[in-house]
Amino acid sequence: MAKACDELARVIGERKRVDESEIDQLPYLQAIVKETFRLHPPVPFLVPRKANMTTRIMGYTIPKGAKVLINVWTMGRNENIWQEPEKFMPERFLGRTVGFSGGDLELIPFGAGRRICPGMPLAIRMVHVLLASLLIHFKWRLPDEVERNGIDMTERFGLTLSKAVPLCAIATPI
Ligand code: HEM
Repeated sequence: MAKACDELARVIGERKRVDESEIDQLPYLQAIVKETFRLHPPVPFLVPRKANMTTRIMGYTIPKGAKVLINVWTMGRNENIWQEPEKFMPERFLGRTVGFSGGDLELIPFGAGRRICPGMPLAIRMVHVLLASLLIHFKWRLPDEVERNGIDMTERFGLTLSKAVPLCAIATPI
């Protein structure tokens, strides 16, 4: 959070407002969003697919008619792809060109191919602007008890992924 706030201070200064056009100048904020989507993809199994024909992929046979679930949650924690996958480390995305458009299959929180999320362009802009605005306008801290014990990151799986224990954070206007 401190690094993201420093970056925002450098880029937008005293303005207290971030425009969509400035997201490109906020690589650390972008890396935080990517890292969050890697560890906590909002749609953990994408939308189910059905195989049109029997297909062989990497030694596996997917029979015609099979329902296919893409486990994006597990892909984000695969240690063959990510170093120290359990660690929240936005730096892993700095200086890399990994994007959300479905071309980089290691990070597909919006899916890929013809069924890719049509709301992606809106969602990407809004998530960055919203997160930046929350950091610009408020100082954030955790309740003492959560600060002592750590945030419970247990997840509840469904079509969408949510926190099992909602986060409580204290915002003080700046
Ligand atoms: C952070 C925000 C969002 C995330 C992570 C997200 C993620 C996804 C994912 C993973 C899929 C399935 C894609 C696939 O299986 O390949 C999907 C589908 C879809 N999303 Fe999003 N989405 C987000 C926001 C939005 C918004 C803002 C809208 C609309 C304004 C939207 C509309 C849709 C629709 C209509 C589909 C179904 C597309 C189809 O099956 O043809 N999403 N989304």
